[in-house]
Amino acid sequence: MFKVPTVSAERLPALLRAMPKAELHIHIEGSLEPEMIFALAQRNGVSLPYADVQALRSAYAFTDLQSFLDIYYAGASVLLHEQDFYDMARAYLARAAMDNVVRAEIFFDPQTHTARGVSMAAVVNGLHRACEDARAEWGISAALILCFLRHLSEEDAFATLEQALPLQDKFIGVGLDSSEVGHPPEKFARVFARCRQLGLHTVAHAGEEGPPAYIWSALDVLKVERIDHGVQALRDPVLVQRLAQGGVPLTVCPLSNQKLRVFPDLPAHNLPQLLEAGLCATVNSDDPAYFGGYINDNFTQLFAATGMTARHAYQLASNSLQASFAPEADKRAWAHRLKECFERCYEHDY
Ligand code: ADE
Ligand code: ZN
Repeated sequence: MFKVPTVSAERLPALLRAMPKAELHIHIEGSLEPEMIFALAQRNGVSLPYADVQALRSAYAFTDLQSFLDIYYAGASVLLHEQDFYDMARAYLARAAMDNVVRAEIFFDPQTHTARGVSMAAVVNGLHRACEDARAEWGISAALILCFLRHLSEEDAFATLEQALPLQDKFIGVGLDSSEVGHPPEKFARVFARCRQLGLHTVAHAGEEGPPAYIWSALDVLKVERIDHGVQALRDPVLVQRLAQGGVPLTVCPLSNQKLRVFPDLPAHNLPQLLEAGLCATVNSDDPAYFGGYINDNFTQLFAATGMTARHAYQLASNSLQASFAPEADKRAWAHRLKECFERCYEHDY
């Protein structure tokens, strides 16, 4: 096992920013900054129920997941053309590259757009082109994960999958998001079975606001490879054992959990306990434009609040690279870069 150096509290934020990492839980529509929402609204002639950027930003006072989703879907209504999806993803990827993200697995919600008459091709082609360009320009590896909206029916999810299949070479997997409570994973058992047959990777949001039972059914019924959020797992010791033994990654989003009041504040976040329990937890931004920070803000604010150390930082970055769906050769190369980054601490580079 790699011996992680001791790093002082003053030097830790620089290390957190510099370390290579994967972002595995980012909704691309949640990266739309208010300024871009207004610019796209103007470009596309869409009217918004907010007078200006300031008024929109001041509406970002959430009390729970649903209060956020209502505003998030309204923000996404400005996206109409392939170029809009390209511009949104390009802005996120530029920001992620600056945060030393070497791999981004990006969620998108096609039903939010196809329901407004936008074609599946405009959504997928715009996002995919941005991923390709980001690799060429900044060396960042990026891939797309199509999410089904769980507040809609499984029939709707099947129709969405059907529309997306001609573009299957442009996304690597499927996920499940939107309003959790009242929409358990088993509602989507058949469509996930079909996606697995098609060779797609599978993930699902579970245990964000919903109970541990939803994490169980995401694992046992949907047979997902990763759990998005999963922070409610600690309420069920048998589930914790299952997640630890199976090495199931959890894509945790600290600032999101704070803003949506899953935890009263960041010092109360259970990520240190998840690691302590031997779970493969990772740090991610979820919807960075809405929750006050990108991935490095999640790392630096969480570490400042909980007193976690360089050893935790190394574990979290290593988990993220290992839990990604990237080719094994890429993962090995990134793991090597991660070690080098920490070794530089011995030379007091930070
Ligand atoms: N869609 C965007 N962000 C989400 C979240 N945190 N939970 C569920 N669905 C989402
Ligand atoms: Zn999410």
